[in-house]
Amino acid sequence: VPLRAPDWRFDRSEFDAAFSRRTKLVVMANPNNPTGKVFTPSELEFIGDTARRHDALVISDEVYEYLILADQARHVSIASLPGMFDHVLTLSSASKTLFCTGWRVGWCVGPADVLQPLGVKSDETYVCAPAPLQYAVADALRLPQEFFLGIRGPFRLKRDRLCSALRSAGLAPLVPDGAYYVLADYRRLGLTTDVEAMNYLIDQVGVGSVPGSAFAAGGRDTGLLRFCFALEDIDLDRGCARLAQLRSPVGRV
Ligand SMILES: Cc1ncc(COP(=O)(O)O)c(C=O)c1O
Repeated sequence: VPLRAPDWRFDRSEFDAAFSRRTKLVVMANPNNPTGKVFTPSELEFIGDTARRHDALVISDEVYEYLILADQARHVSIASLPGMFDHVLTLSSASKTLFCTGWRVGWCVGPADVLQPLGVKSDETYVCAPAPLQYAVADALRLPQEFFLGIRGPFRLKRDRLCSALRSAGLAPLVPDGAYYVLADYRRLGLTTDVEAMNYLIDQVGVGSVPGSAFAAGGRDTGLLRFCFALEDIDLDRGCARLAQLRSPVGRV
């Protein structure tokens, strides 16, 4: 079910129509990667009610739960809505909250009757989680609430800095409400495909991005590149300075 720019709403009838008798799961990320969409309580209620009506379980990936960047947005776990807990598996991980991508320590919260067999499956799949890292994450999760609430502040500034550099370079950003990526439209530069645009930026100014088609159904070109601002300020500043050197291949910017 596509999320449509610029505010990444989905069509409710399209969502409903996506279910069949065989549908078992609804998989979503909230906040979302790559759009930064933060689902509203009303959208979550609709998703939850529809999933329940079709007897489907919701898997809600909430790894960016503390990276809410827009003033008007707030993170609501779909599992916290009335009557939803038994119908949702909520996933999160240390990667984004504790800045340790690569440790691959995460957790799943949900109803006991699903978690028990899932534990067996997970044990079969991973053999063994990295125990020392699990202890470190368990300690960090006991940090005071201020730590978690303070995560977003620096990321808001990084988002604004990158968006403004993209704008000046002629790459129109879709300013994200959450997570730490920006999708930006490259078409004003006169580049025709996202892979061409990605390579052009690497060749011309050494700034890397991910083509939007990597996230689109059927690998369709979206006219967008995804940039990440989870960087130290010094590296982000270097990237922004390089974007300022970008020149359109057809001289339109
Ligand atoms: C929505 C989402 N879930 C999960 C992950 C990765 O989580 P982990 O590092 O715990 O495997 C990412 C990372 O890019 C992500 O964007």
